[in-house]
Amino acid sequence: MIYIKTGKAIDYIRESSRIVAETLNLLKRSIQPGMKTLELDRIAEDYIRSKDGLPAFKGYGAAYGKPYPAALCVSVNEEVVHGIPGERVINDGDIVSLDIGVVKNGFFGDAAITVAVGNITEEKKKLMEVTEKSLYLGIEQAKEDNRVQDISAAVQEYVESHGFSVVRDLCGHGVGKKLHEDPSIPNFGRKGIGPKLKTGMTLAIEPMINIGSYKVYTGKDQWTVITQDGLASAHYEHTILVNGKQPEILTVI
Ligand code: MF3
Ligand code: CO
Repeated sequence: MIYIKTGKAIDYIRESSRIVAETLNLLKRSIQPGMKTLELDRIAEDYIRSKDGLPAFKGYGAAYGKPYPAALCVSVNEEVVHGIPGERVINDGDIVSLDIGVVKNGFFGDAAITVAVGNITEEKKKLMEVTEKSLYLGIEQAKEDNRVQDISAAVQEYVESHGFSVVRDLCGHGVGKKLHEDPSIPNFGRKGIGPKLKTGMTLAIEPMINIGSYKVYTGKDQWTVITQDGLASAHYEHTILVNGKQPEILTVI
């Protein structure tokens, strides 16, 4: 079931989403070569708690397996998403995806960015640009009476026209009362297919895009999703509100 949000619920989702955006901004300013990914997790969790929020990912998934152990997902280069913060050192030339969720007043916001550390290759730069642009093209389709796969098709078409590939195994999702709600929002699909979008739906749209093959596997830590070919991947995500013809991005400052 897809929830329609109104009034106070939207205000609360907006508030959590703003904390998400502020946290990502702080992380982007803080990241340096030589840092361990765990240091970024500390910065994120401290900031979220200073705003009276809770890290929404911590403890997530206990019902399915090993609960996610951190506030932040930090995914470096060939890591696609769900990288567990730890001892991995960030180097010049890396691209690092940072994904954060916040819950406050019982409502959730969720967003991700990929950041370049020092000098990166032209190919990685292009990957980041194309992935971010595909997110905005997807968001543009999130309007009243469009269908979920209008978003999917817009992302896929743009990404593949630039020679990159769309990860199949993970999708965007409804967000708000829970971290993951209906509908599932694939980043590949066909226009005109899927549930109709209505004002008041809040969605997390999140293309995960690979330089090489779209195939991925889950690492030994049971969380980190990694490209099979070892080539780099990028991830951008916003929480948005469907509002007539003009979607509102909530994970902005
Ligand atoms: N943005 C990701 C998602 O919506 C992050 C989830 S991490 C998890 O699926 F630990 F919460 F699963
Ligand atoms: Co998400």
